Amino acid sequence: MAFSNDFLWGAAAASYQVEGAWNEDGKGLNIWDVTAKYGHIRYNETGEVSADHYHRMKEDVALMKKIGLRAYRFSVSWARVLPEGTGRINEKGLKFYSDLVDELISNGIEPLVTIFHWDYPYALECRGGWKNEESSDWFAEYTGVLVDALSDRVKYWMTFNEPQCALGISYQLGVFAPFQKCSPPEILQMGANMLLAHGKAVKVIRERSKQRAYISMAPYSSVFKPENDSKEAIDKAYDDTFRCSGANFCLSMSYWSDPIYLGHYPQSLLDEFGDLVPEFTDEQWKMISAPLDFYGTNIYYCAGYESKDGTYGSNRYMGCPHNALNWPITPEAMYWAPVYLYRRYKLPVMITENGMTEHDWVCLDGKVHDTYRIDFTHRYLKELSRAADEVPILGYMHWSVMDNFEWAEGYDERFGLIYVDYRTKERIIKDSAWWYKEVMDTNGSGL
Ligand code: BGC
Repeated sequence: MAFSNDFLWGAAAASYQVEGAWNEDGKGLNIWDVTAKYGHIRYNETGEVSADHYHRMKEDVALMKKIGLRAYRFSVSWARVLPEGTGRINEKGLKFYSDLVDELISNGIEPLVTIFHWDYPYALECRGGWKNEESSDWFAEYTGVLVDALSDRVKYWMTFNEPQCALGISYQLGVFAPFQKCSPPEILQMGANMLLAHGKAVKVIRERSKQRAYISMAPYSSVFKPENDSKEAIDKAYDDTFRCSGANFCLSMSYWSDPIYLGHYPQSLLDEFGDLVPEFTDEQWKMISAPLDFYGTNIYYCAGYESKDGTYGSNRYMGCPHNALNWPITPEAMYWAPVYLYRRYKLPVMITENGMTEHDWVCLDGKVHDTYRIDFTHRYLKELSRAADEVPILGYMHWSVMDNFEWAEGYDERFGLIYVDYRTKERIIKDSAWWYKEVMDTNGSGL
């Protein structure tokens, strides 16, 4: 059987995308709260209220149970817990996450915590953010607060969600908050501080967790699929997948994963940027590359479908299936990414996100008939099952548990298994959620 008996079937969401309550119960501001509303987001939408999960947490967990989730991956809003980013703890904010963990566990749902999913405290941004050499210590302090409060019940920890976006899309391309365009040397310095932050956070979790912790990062996979099944084609696609070069180097997987899992920068980065790449001491390298327990990754589509200037990439063809964000639908990503990741990093893989966005609406019968999401997930899970026959896979988190704020795209496209009417906050379980329940209940045996 492809999926192990203890396979973690779940779904995911992130604090700023679902919580709302942006200025309640002592929460501090984050960079999205402050900068998003000034013309950067479609229709000037914000996450200020969003799905209002902060106030509807119990109702949402009850829905998660109803659709059969075994696991829920959520992120913590740093500024909700530490309003100034460091120092003073906001006990009410921390209690929200502690209550969420309790609620999940009492409903038989395993909590998976992402420490940072892009909503960086504004107070720290004002102090230079990731450019400040103290930034890794700030992250370690924040991690310690979470570990002390939650690790008696939480086993699974992910330090950064898609560090590629947290750095590249936010500070290089200027498309996500705080919408900056920094130079490559600055990006390299910030990236180094983030790698150190990861390492220090792992050390804190290992030292202070009240139970055996399972730790990873969660970068996205941009995987090339081989042109045919020859060994040469498979090796070529592998090399392309892990190449780290060009102005967008920090969007590559290996920029993050080689240091963390292999203990060095990718050679292609060193060849290109030479002395501009910040050095680490041996002790820092040891911390950055301290052993992790699995390789978490978000998988949406294969690389090579879009070129940098927004024109068709070599794999794209006219009429190529794509979602509402124009992302190609390429289920093979779900086979090749785990296979290549295991080949390089030799750790079990967890799919920390995968899903499909469309312009869902409520049909005349009051239901949401999202057949395309069912077909999408079916195709991707079939490929995952193929991969699971060859490499160890720990779990699959569908993105997303409910409709939410899709960053620069606002609320136009919907990723959820559960539909949210943003005017009334009513939730409707979509057909895809019932379909997914059957998959989870049968451990994927009918795929
Ligand atoms: C992110 C999510 C996002 C999703 C769909 C990932 O890039 O982690 O926050 O909503 O993909 O774009």
